[in-house]
Amino acid sequence: MTIKKVTVQKATVEKARELGFCFGVRRAIQVVEEAAGRLGALNTLGPVVHNQRVVDKLEALGVKAVGEAGEVSGVVALPSHGAPPQVVAGLKQRGVEVVDATCPMVRRAQKAAHELAAAGFKVVIFGDAQHPEVRGVLGWAGEEATATLDAASVSFRRWPKKLGILSQSTQNAESFATFVSQLLARALEKATEVRVVNTICHATRERQQAALELARRSDLMLVVGSFTSANTRQLARLCSQVAETHQVEGPQDIELSWLEGKSRVGVTAGASTPDEAVGEVVARLEELCGAAGGDASGRR
Ligand code: F3S
Repeated sequence: MTIKKVTVQKATVEKARELGFCFGVRRAIQVVEEAAGRLGALNTLGPVVHNQRVVDKLEALGVKAVGEAGEVSGVVALPSHGAPPQVVAGLKQRGVEVVDATCPMVRRAQKAAHELAAAGFKVVIFGDAQHPEVRGVLGWAGEEATATLDAASVSFRRWPKKLGILSQSTQNAESFATFVSQLLARALEKATEVRVVNTICHATRERQQAALELARRSDLMLVVGSFTSANTRQLARLCSQVAETHQVEGPQDIELSWLEGKSRVGVTAGASTPDEAVGEVVARLEELCGAAGGDASGRR
């Protein structure tokens, strides 16, 4: 086997001015930790946040993530991305105590969807229909509500007179604006009233802005976070538009070959990525960027 020699020059490593845990994630973890401290053990409806390291830490405190509401009894915590009201009502009917760790920004989107539906609007959500947050908001959004990332795929039995448009909290503002204008072009033939509620959360917007600023002055960007985290993937997608970008879950994923010829390395992290993971990636980068020579697997 030929081992490709990789030469790494000295490089600066800079973190984005806003990165990692957002307030909704911190709050959700705190709510669940407090409940676990009070009760000894509890279940959560899916992972509290999309990060395995956080899930493992909570598991050590007696917190177990379950996939289906039907599997739980006793006490269950809702995750930061919330749940559909029908699921919560079903749990309560079965006598399950519900601890609500839903992020207030997700709660705001649920409330907006509910108010639009109650006022007779058909709701369209700009987001991944399979994501738990979007499934939860859809539950509040009334009959015929739909979620998609593609405006061309939106269809109704009859195009409504009143149309409401929301976004998944972790989407990108520019993409949401494009989606809205594409949907408007189709809806305005029938619609007499269109309401757009910007439910992209502040933390997402700040992290995306900071990541882009850093990416513009970097020649390599590493985005730290789980591949199941929508906002982390979104950060990686944005950064890749302006610099070479790789998503990593931890320092073990860094490949030495990425650093070849790079002098400015930027680091950002998704809203569900713990500080320790970011710290470990930065420490490994600093170690590698001071090193010269090695093989493509990262061995030195
Ligand atoms: Fe909430 Fe936004 Fe964080 S929706 S969980 S503050 S990324």
